[in-house]
Amino acid sequence: AKIKEVEFVKSSNKPKDCPKDERPEFAMLGRSNVGKSSLIISLVKKKEVVLTSKKPGKTQLINHFLVNKSWYIVDLPGYGFANASEAARMDWSSFTKGYFLNRDTLVSIPITFVFTKCDKMEGRQKGPTSHELIRENYKHQPPWIMTSSVSGLGRDELLLHMSQLQNY
Ligand code: GTP
Ligand code: MG
Repeated sequence: AKIKEVEFVKSSNKPKDCPKDERPEFAMLGRSNVGKSSLIISLVKKKEVVLTSKKPGKTQLINHFLVNKSWYIVDLPGYGFANASEAARMDWSSFTKGYFLNRDTLVSIPITFVFTKCDKMEGRQKGPTSHELIRENYKHQPPWIMTSSVSGLGRDELLLHMSQLQNY
């Protein structure tokens, strides 16, 4: 699960414009501002090519990054953020939906829950810690991984997981 090379390929605003390719790809799907773009940076260690922001709604296109010339990681706009016009939001939701429905090379099943910003969950209160609660509540769910783009928590685990999924 070693990252040797990362190349920004292109930004697209519809599935039709995405790279025509057979290589498998992984997409980060989640609410706006949860840290999808930051997580991609932490995985590929290439700050220059991925845009992040304190404000929700930074990623506005389907962004393809080719890793080790063998698989893609895709940064998508988040859903549910309030900072854009209704029209812009409709547009994003329609093309990300189109992306999910039409992108044949997407490694979409199985889905993995990736918890972000886990550096922020410190056990202030008595009783079970947030880590323990997640462990308990997601016992029977699809695979899940706790990550932090700040501390690097979960990075190796997520990369290993993605490399295993490609052999399906
Ligand atoms: P959209 O592109 O709007 O969908 O957002 P996004 O999910 O790509 O979030 P982004 O990576 O731009 O990060 C949003 C904010 O959260 C930024 O201010 C990041 O610095 C911060 N952030 C991201 N990951 C972490 C993390 O692991 N820990 C902490 N503490 N902050 C983080
Ligand atoms: Mg983003």
